[in-house]
Amino acid sequence: MAEQPEVEELAIEKYPSENGNIIIATVNRPEKLNALNVNVKEAIKSLCSWAEDSKDITVVIFRGASPLPPPEGKRQKPHAFVAGADVSEFVGKNSEIIRPEFEDNVWEAVWKLRKPTIALIDGYALGGGSELALSCDIRVATSRSMFGTPEINLGLIPGGGGTQRLTWLVGYGKAMEMVMGGEMIDGDEAHRIGLVNHIVEPDELMEKGMEIANNLSSKSPLTVQIAKQAVRAALDNPISDGIVLEHNMFVDLFDTKDKEIGVNAFMERGKPEWTGE
Ligand code: COA
Repeated sequence: MAEQPEVEELAIEKYPSENGNIIIATVNRPEKLNALNVNVKEAIKSLCSWAEDSKDITVVIFRGASPLPPPEGKRQKPHAFVAGADVSEFVGKNSEIIRPEFEDNVWEAVWKLRKPTIALIDGYALGGGSELALSCDIRVATSRSMFGTPEINLGLIPGGGGTQRLTWLVGYGKAMEMVMGGEMIDGDEAHRIGLVNHIVEPDELMEKGMEIANNLSSKSPLTVQIAKQAVRAALDNPISDGIVLEHNMFVDLFDTKDKEIGVNAFMERGKPEWTGE
């Protein structure tokens, strides 16, 4: 059974909700615009194992820490979700060193989590930061956020699944422009092209995130996981195979307790008390 990671650079809060706890994981390196260094990446991977193993965790939210007040005479650092992988950790490394780091990586850990995930974005979501958001199921952002895949400017390309997940989300043409050009787009544009689900004011971001999380948390945890798996099947399969997979998942749900509970609650105009079985 994996345990809750205890790392200063990844603050973890638990909020009780209907069928368990909502976890808010805050990447906490505001001085470096919450860039993902090895510590944070390992902590997020541990968080995913812990969330997967813990029956009482229903939803995981990711966000970035707000900027700290600046020292006298200095400018405030900008708001960031995550401004990328920590570029300082790329210096002097060759493929032999980097390959193992990227084989079992943080973005896949988030992507593979069977429970629902939400990214709350206020500020820069660049490179590995945009990929962290892309690995989540739902994205909510502020207009002042900036999204981009600027790896091209480092002589690189996205390495956390960005070329694939971005293309699925916003389409081939826009993904090609963003990945090859490295230009940023703002939150409103990200919303327009389908990169984010909702745009809100900065002071409404947490409320909106919790509203979505509480709704997801009110469903049968088992059925939500199957729903996630079914929608994901659309990415991996031709539609005819995906439809067969969906059909089988739908039919199998008829053997669960929660289907009987949900259907009976509807018939009796009651509230379902899910068992997760
Ligand atoms: N890795 C490591 N450090 C980073 C970082 C990253 N991805 N992004 C920002 N930082 C650090 C900066 O080095 C700076 O540190 P310092 O104050 O100790 O010098 C601090 O965060 C603030 O960033 P700064 O560049 O001074 O802020 P800015 O307002 O001038 O510019 C950005 C903001 C986001 C445009 C700029 O930081 C940037 O381009 N970051 C890199 C983005 C990137 O290439 N990401 C992809 C990596 S895969």
